[in-house]
Amino acid sequence: MRKILGVRCFLDLVFRHLTARAELWRPSRAKGGRGLKLVWQTLVVWEIWKKVGIKTYMAPGSSKEKKSDDGQATKENFINLCNPHLEKMKEDILYHFALGTGTHDFPTLFGDVKFVCVGGSPSRMKAFIAYIAEELGLGSPGCDYPNICAGTDRYAMYKVGPVLSVSHGMGIPSISIMLHELIKLLYHAKCSDITIIRIGTSGGIGLEPGSVVITRQSVDATFKPQLEQVVLGKTVIRSTNLDEQLAQELMQCSKEIGQFNTVIGNTMCTLDFYEGQGRLDGAICLYDEEEKLQYLKNAYESGVRNIEMESSVFAAMCNLSGVKAAVVCVTLLNRLEGDQISSPHDVLVEYQQRPQKLVGYFIKKSLGKA
Ligand code: URA
Repeated sequence: MRKILGVRCFLDLVFRHLTARAELWRPSRAKGGRGLKLVWQTLVVWEIWKKVGIKTYMAPGSSKEKKSDDGQATKENFINLCNPHLEKMKEDILYHFALGTGTHDFPTLFGDVKFVCVGGSPSRMKAFIAYIAEELGLGSPGCDYPNICAGTDRYAMYKVGPVLSVSHGMGIPSISIMLHELIKLLYHAKCSDITIIRIGTSGGIGLEPGSVVITRQSVDATFKPQLEQVVLGKTVIRSTNLDEQLAQELMQCSKEIGQFNTVIGNTMCTLDFYEGQGRLDGAICLYDEEEKLQYLKNAYESGVRNIEMESSVFAAMCNLSGVKAAVVCVTLLNRLEGDQISSPHDVLVEYQQRPQKLVGYFIKKSLGKA
C-alpha cells in the first residue's frame, strides 16, 4: 500500500515539474512540437491516475544510509518535503515564526534537533523546556530560556540541546499554520530522525480525570480516521494514523514511571470546544442531554477515549512529511459526568504536567539518560 502511495506522490512531483516546464516549451507549440505532446500525454495519464487513484495517501520519509560508530549501515530519515516550489525560492520567510532562511542560519541554529514537542500554550511550552533542560542535565538554576520567535507573538519557540518546544495555539487552523513553518524549518535545517510529540489537554470519555491518553488514531467527529481538507476547491482526504511503535514505547515509559493512569486509545479531533464536542454549556446548544450522552457513548464504543482540537491535522501533516509522531494528552474531566472544567487550579496544573513528565522520561530514555 505504502509503495503504491509513494508512487503516486512521485508522479505528483513529476506532474508538477512538467507543468512548470510547459512554459519553457511554449515556442514548440506553434510548430506542433513533440514537447507539448509529451506534456499533454502526461496530463492525460495524471487525470486517469487521479480518477482511479486511492484518495488517502501517506508519504514515506526520504532516507539516506549512514555508517554508525561501529561501522554498521543505518538509515537516516530526513523530512519529506511535499512541495517542489520551495526549491525554486531564493529565500523562505517563515512569517509566523519571524524567522527566514535569508536572515537565519537554520542548520547551525536547529541542525541538532531530534525531538520536537508542541503544545497549545506558550507558557506551558516554556515550562516544558525548563523541565527537560533539568532532566537532561543541560539547565542551570534560575536559567531563563529565550523565545526564539520573540519577533512575533503568534507562536513561542524554545530550544535546549536536541529538544525544540513550540506552542501552536488552539484548533486545527492554528496548529496547521505552525506545522507548515515547523516542517520547513526542520527541512531547511537538514534535520534527520525527528520525533514530534504533541503534549496537551483534552476531555476524557469514561476515564478518571487526570488520565493520560496516547493516541492510536485521530478520528473526526463521525469517528473516521481521516482529515477532510478543501484544497483548490476540492475535498482531499488525508490519513490520521500515528506511529504505532512510538505509541507502544510511550506506554512502556508510563508503566516505568508508574505515577498515573495511561491508556492507548482513539482521540476525536473536533472543530470546536462546545457544540463540536457535544457540550450543553456553550452559547448555542440545540440538542438535549440524552442526545449528548448517546453521542459520547457511541464515540466510546468506537474506541474514542478523549476529545481535543488539533490531533487530526497534526497526524496528517506528519504522515505526509514522513515524520514519526505521537499525541499525548491528559484528560481534564470525564465528559460522561459533565462539561465544565471545575477542578481546582493546582489540580489542573498537576494534571498538565503529566504529559510533560511522560514525554520527558521518553526523551531521557531515548538519549540513554534515564
Ligand atoms: N480540550 C478540549 O478540546 N476539550 C476538553 O474538554 C478539554 C480540553
